Amino acid sequence: MARKILVTSALPYANGPIHLGHLVEYVQTDIWVRFQKLQGNECWYVCADDAHGTPIMLKARERGVSPETLIEQVGAEHRRDFASFGIEFDNYYTTHSEENRHYAELIYRRLRDGGWIDRKTITQAYDEQEGMFLPDRYIKGTCPRCGADDQYGDNCEACGASYSPDELRNPVSVISGKAPVQKASEHYFFRLQDFEPMLREWASSEGLQDEVSNKLQEWFDAGLRAWDISRDAPYFGFRIPDTDDKYFYVWLDAPIGYMASFQDLCNRRGLDFDEWWNADSDAELYHFIGKDIVYFHALFWPAMLHGAGFRTPTRVCAHGFLTVDGQKMSKSRGTFIMAETYRRHLDAEYLRYYFAAKLSAGVHDIDLSLEDFTQRVNADLVGKLVNIASRCAGFINKRSDGWLGPRLDAPELFRRMSARAEVIGGHYEDRAYSRVVREVMALADEANQYIDEKKPWVLAKDPDQAEAVQAINTTGLNLFRVLMLYLKPVLPGTAAAAERFLQVPPMEWADAGQPLLDHRIAPFKPLMTRIDPAAIEAMIEESRESLKPA
Ligand code: MSP
Ligand code: ZN
Repeated sequence: MARKILVTSALPYANGPIHLGHLVEYVQTDIWVRFQKLQGNECWYVCADDAHGTPIMLKARERGVSPETLIEQVGAEHRRDFASFGIEFDNYYTTHSEENRHYAELIYRRLRDGGWIDRKTITQAYDEQEGMFLPDRYIKGTCPRCGADDQYGDNCEACGASYSPDELRNPVSVISGKAPVQKASEHYFFRLQDFEPMLREWASSEGLQDEVSNKLQEWFDAGLRAWDISRDAPYFGFRIPDTDDKYFYVWLDAPIGYMASFQDLCNRRGLDFDEWWNADSDAELYHFIGKDIVYFHALFWPAMLHGAGFRTPTRVCAHGFLTVDGQKMSKSRGTFIMAETYRRHLDAEYLRYYFAAKLSAGVHDIDLSLEDFTQRVNADLVGKLVNIASRCAGFINKRSDGWLGPRLDAPELFRRMSARAEVIGGHYEDRAYSRVVREVMALADEANQYIDEKKPWVLAKDPDQAEAVQAINTTGLNLFRVLMLYLKPVLPGTAAAAERFLQVPPMEWADAGQPLLDHRIAPFKPLMTRIDPAAIEAMIEESRESLKPA
C-alpha cells in the first residue's frame, strides 16, 4: 500500500541568502522525498520563506524598501538557489500569506477558547527614539561579569556568561545608539506547561533521535513554562485578533507556514487538506530541521497542534551543523559560501553527493573538507561510477550499432546487485545516506573488477568473440543502470542524463530487478567531469571578496 507522506524543511528567513549550511538540510530532505516518490509513495514536499519578525522589518528599512518588497525579492532568490541545487519542492510559499493568516488565527482562537492563553504585563527594554521594544539581540553593552564591551543583551562572547538584558552595564540600542528604558506592556502567553503529559506521550511514541529525546527529557526536568507569543507594534507580522497593536511572534506563525504552504498546494492540486491534518489523519508528517530549532518543533509545535485539534508530527528529524575544513563557516576565511557563489563554480551534484556521503540519521555536525570533497567526487563518481558506463558504452556504440544484447554475460552478478535494492532502500528510509553511498561504491568496485577480469578490449580483437563482447558490455551497462538508480535520489541530474543515454523512461525503484536487453542506447557523452581544484580556489576567493566593502 502506498504511504501518504507530507514532508517539510524548515522555512528559511527571508532576510538573507541561502548558504551551504542551509543546503545540508534541503539536500537531506530532497533526497528523502525523491526516494519516497521513486518507491511509488504519495509524497509531498512543501516549504516557504519565513517572512515575519523584527530582523526582516529592520532589514527592509535599512534598504529603504517595504517589508513586502524585501520578502518578495529574497523569496525569488531563494527559489532560484534551491532550484539550482535540484531541490524539488512541490510547493514553495511564504508565511506572509492569507492562508497562513487564516491558520494562525484559527489555531490561536482554538487555543484561547481552550483556556491555554494567558495575558500578563511584563517590562522590557524600549527604545524611545525608535518607539519600539528591543529584542535581546538589539541591545549591546558591557558584560556584567567580565567587563567586555560591545556584548549582546543575552550573552557575552568574551567570557561565555549568560544574563538578562537588564543586567548588562551601559546598555544601548543597536538601532538608535541610545540607552533603552524599561517599559511595561501586556503580553500573550501560551500555557505550554499544560501540555506536558501529552508531550511526554508524543515523545515516547515517536521514534525520536536519542539526542532529541535527551533534550526533551532535560526540558521536562527543568519544567515547562508559558511561552510569550505576542510582540508589540511596530512589528512585521499578523495582528492578533481582537487587539489593536499586538502581533504574533514570528515563531508562532512560522511552523503554521507548513500548513499554509500545504493548503496552497491543495488549492492548486485538488488535494484534501483535512485528510492530512485532521487529528485522526492516517497520513505521515515529517519535519526536517536543524538541531538549533528542536525546541520549537518538539515542544511548542506539537502542543499547539494538539491544543487546536490537529494531528501531531509523525517525526521530527534533526540534523547537525555544517563546518568547513573543521571550523565554523567564516567570512574572512572565505568558507561562508553562498549557494549562488558555489553554483558559479561547481556542479550541484558534487555537493549533493558529498553531503549524502556524510549524512547519517544522527544529529552530529558534518564537515565539508574541501580536499576530501574534491578527492571523493573525483574518485567515486567520476573514477568509479560513471567510469563503468564510459568503459562499456564505446563497444556497444561502435560494435553493435548501439544495441544491448539479448543476454547478460554475468546474470548472477546482476541479480546480486539488484537484490541490494531492499537494503539500500532501508538506508534511505532511515536517512542513513552515508550507508547508501558506501554500499553503492562497494558495488561499483565489483562492477569495475568484473570488467577488468573479462577484458573486453582484448576479446574485441577476435571477430569470433563479438557476441561475448556484446554480452559483457551489456552486463556492465546493466550494472551501471542499477547503481545509477540507487543513487538517483542523490544525483537527479546525472540520473536523468543516464536515462537519456540508456534511452529509458524515468527509472523507478522497482526497475532494479529487470535487466535491459535487446535495447538500443544513445551515443555516450561524458556524464560528469572531474572537479578542478582551481574552481574551488576561485569559489573561496570570491566568497572572501564579497566581504570587502564596495
Ligand atoms: N526561520 C527559521 C525556521 C522556521 S521553521 C518553522 C530558521 N531559519 S534559518 O534560515 O535560520 O534556518 C533554516 C534551516 O537551516 C534551519 O533548520 C537551520 O537549522 C538550518 N541551518 C542554517 N544554518 C545551518 C548550518 N550552518 N548548518 C546546517 N544547517 C543550518 O531557523
Ligand atoms: Zn563577559
